[in-house]
Amino acid sequence: MIAVASDHGGLELKQAICELLKKRTLDFCDMGTHDGSSVDYPDFGIKVATAVAAGECLSGILICGTGIGMSIAANKVNGIRAALVHDSFTAQMAKEHNNANVLVLGGRVLGVAEGCRLVEVWLDSQFEGGRHQGRLDKIQQIENDQK
Ligand code: RB5
Repeated sequence: MIAVASDHGGLELKQAICELLKKRTLDFCDMGTHDGSSVDYPDFGIKVATAVAAGECLSGILICGTGIGMSIAANKVNGIRAALVHDSFTAQMAKEHNNANVLVLGGRVLGVAEGCRLVEVWLDSQFEGGRHQGRLDKIQQIENDQK
C-alpha cells in the first residue's frame, strides 16, 4: 500500500499520480487534500509519514508546491527517509542509495508528465543495500540518540 497526499500546491500532480498508480494496479490510499482550497502541508505530510513509519503503508508519495515543506515535515518522523527529487537521476538514487520510503515532488516545479515519470523511476528502482545500508543505519542511530 502506498500512502499519497498533497497540499493545494501539489493537488494536480497528486491526481495524476493516483491515476498512474491505478493504471499500474498498485494499492494506494489518497490521504488528501481533495480540493484546491488552501491547506497547511504539515497536516498532510504527517499523515503519510506516520502511516509509513507505523508500517500501515509500505511507502509514501508527498507533493506540495516546491516539495520542500513536505520533505521537512515528513523527515521529522522517526524512520522516515523522505527524498525531494527533481529529475530521473535523483529519483533513481533516492531508492538505490537512500532507500527513500517517501518520495517528495514539487507540483509547481515539475510538469504533470515529468512528475509521473519520476514516480515510475522511483517505483522501478531497487535499493542496492551493502555500503548504503550502513549509512542508513547511521541515520537511524542519529534518530535513536534524539529520544
Ligand atoms: C503553499 O503555498 C506552499 O508554500 C507549499 O505548497 C510548499 O511549496 C511549501 O514548501
